[in-house]
Amino acid sequence: MRIAIVVAAALAAAGIAGIAATEAAAQGAGDPKAGATIFNKCKACHALGPGAANKIGPELNGIIGEQPGAVEGYQFSKPFMDWAASQGPWTAETMRPWLENPRAVVKGTKMAFPGLKNPAEIDNLIAHLLTFDEAGNPTAPAN
Ligand code: HEC
Repeated sequence: MRIAIVVAAALAAAGIAGIAATEAAAQGAGDPKAGATIFNKCKACHALGPGAANKIGPELNGIIGEQPGAVEGYQFSKPFMDWAASQGPWTAETMRPWLENPRAVVKGTKMAFPGLKNPAEIDNLIAHLLTFDEAGNPTAPAN
């Protein structure tokens, strides 16, 4: 009897830990500091942070939560805009496949980037993107 209770309690605890881990992954619980380093791969084309302007690609302040293809003053490709028309705002979930392989998400996109193959790098990068709001201000005290 007592053993059964202990086993049940252990299973319940494992279950809760499992759910917490899944939630953390779903929220893209990456490391924003590590993500800042990975963002170096994006910098040739994208700016982020205070005063970020459009370059070869659109500025990315507050991009998660924004409608794809909505950056003011930036000319997106037609394939991207056609795809964007069927999309809701960017989420960590929709950002993941885009960063893994942009051309697989939008055939004909002009984002000439092969993609990041390491899921941890993508999580870290997403965490970094989330550290700036729409106006380019830090969303949290410097980390
Ligand atoms: C060689 C240039 C280049 C590199 C490198 C690059 N991008 Fe892009 N990116 C673009 C272009 C160009 C577009 C516009 C795509 C279109 O219109 O088809 C774009 C679009 C995007 C969008 C969609 C923006 C929106 O407003 O919906 C996101 C998000 C994005 N890039 C993130 C990244 C990240 C993060 C990296 C680094 C891992 C990266 N890009 C690397 C050129 C680049």
